[in-house]
Amino acid sequence: MIKISPSILASDFANLERESKTMVAAGADMLHVDVMDGHFVPNISLGAPVVAALRPKLPITFDVHLMITNPLQYLPDFVKAGSDIITFHYESDDDPREVIRAIRAAGKRVGVSVKPKTPAQEIFPLLEEVDMVLVMTVEPGFGGQKFMDDMLPKIRQIREKANALGKTDLDIQVDGGIADATAPLVAAAGANVLVAGSSLFRQDDYAAGILKLRRAAEE
Ligand code: DX5
Ligand code: ZN
Repeated sequence: MIKISPSILASDFANLERESKTMVAAGADMLHVDVMDGHFVPNISLGAPVVAALRPKLPITFDVHLMITNPLQYLPDFVKAGSDIITFHYESDDDPREVIRAIRAAGKRVGVSVKPKTPAQEIFPLLEEVDMVLVMTVEPGFGGQKFMDDMLPKIRQIREKANALGKTDLDIQVDGGIADATAPLVAAAGANVLVAGSSLFRQDDYAAGILKLRRAAEE
């Protein structure tokens, strides 16, 4: 089953509530929130106060992607804000096992993300401890970039390793350049959670956009 997680980074921030509600009503499975600290990535987006403001208005899973150098330091804020899935970067400054433990202790679902240059093998030892792996299909930091198809083998390697470990329920999320043309490729490689920013938010009809993307992935 394919899950679609629209990235609100591509929405009209002046109308964030309306945009998010429209996307939820259009059939999104969750909402992807990109948190950037201007340090781990060369861009600043939004933080926990925005999640806290939006969360009570939307009965949907909040899929929070922390592109920040110190996830442990800010984790309590994102927990309190009402995040449901918290994904941190393997390349952050904190010890991945410690971050995983802290997210679990807070009762949240755990995702670990890898940047394009990080090989799949690096996170194999963590697969049994997480609910989701996020394979970045662009360099994190900005929406609207071109999908990197050399990430497809990485998705496949992680899916194969998870299956070999008996962890067939591992979610594999992809993020960056996901659109109707790239969705079938990532799904065939083993991804089941698709983040899409610009390709969805630039459509006039969000419901039609989600439906098309889902169909493309499920082909
Ligand atoms: C990039 C972010 C993505 C971004 C995707 O650093 O993590 O979630 O919003 O945007 P698109 O779908 O436009 O590539
Ligand atoms: Zn993201």
